[in-house]
Amino acid sequence: MNRKYRKTVIAGNWKMNKTPSETKEFMTQLKAILPKGRWCDVALCVPAVCIPAAVRAMRETRVGIGAENCNANASGAYTGEIATNMLVDAGCKYVIIGHSERRAMGETDADVNAKVLAALNAGLTPIMCCGESLEQRQSGITTEWITMQIKLGLAGVPEDKIRKVIIAYEPIWAIGTGKTATAEQAQEIHAYIRTILREKFGAAADETPILYGGSCKPSNAPELFAKEDVDGGLIGGAALKAADFLAIGKGFPQK
Ligand code: PGA
Repeated sequence: MNRKYRKTVIAGNWKMNKTPSETKEFMTQLKAILPKGRWCDVALCVPAVCIPAAVRAMRETRVGIGAENCNANASGAYTGEIATNMLVDAGCKYVIIGHSERRAMGETDADVNAKVLAALNAGLTPIMCCGESLEQRQSGITTEWITMQIKLGLAGVPEDKIRKVIIAYEPIWAIGTGKTATAEQAQEIHAYIRTILREKFGAAADETPILYGGSCKPSNAPELFAKEDVDGGLIGGAALKAADFLAIGKGFPQK
């Protein structure tokens, strides 16, 4: 399927940056320069305490607000955790799941899977992350690793729900390092992910956006986004400045 039938998306991941007051300031700047008319989907995933300010500021815009994590349980004794229905009620549309920084804190593929299912159940769009370390790439096990992450992370997702999932391929060696994967390296893995999705979900998988993440910035976005299976970016550092973030969205080839 041609990529023009898939959504193109730029999603920001603020990580542990910005206060609610800084969020308000950022959103004011973003709103002022947001393109009018048809454009890519824009998501901003922000720290939990910043969600209300972000949702309030972006209410009548095309920008969807998201969280950076969720808990898979509906409610209960999970001190410090946030359930998917709480995120929905707060106005979130997206949630990042299984970011490598969270996996490094002990999140397993089984946790990722439970969160993906909970997010879909609640009506959120999960942005499920996968990606290999430098050691894994050098040992030649990148595709095996990605296959495992995708298959375990999406276990039990019904075929009609795969369109609602966004996958982010984020090679760990490229995150926050300034070392971007080449457009060819990204395309190779994105096409591979699409093959796994097709095997599991059939033609519906062609509508699943696969984003690239890892030092994505305005200067390298056009080359990455020109590739058939690179449907956008999950952006960390460059999403902290409104102008840089939107400049990345200008990197899509004209349809
Ligand atoms: P980066 O982060 O753009 O700062 O490399 C991407 C991410 O971790 O999602």
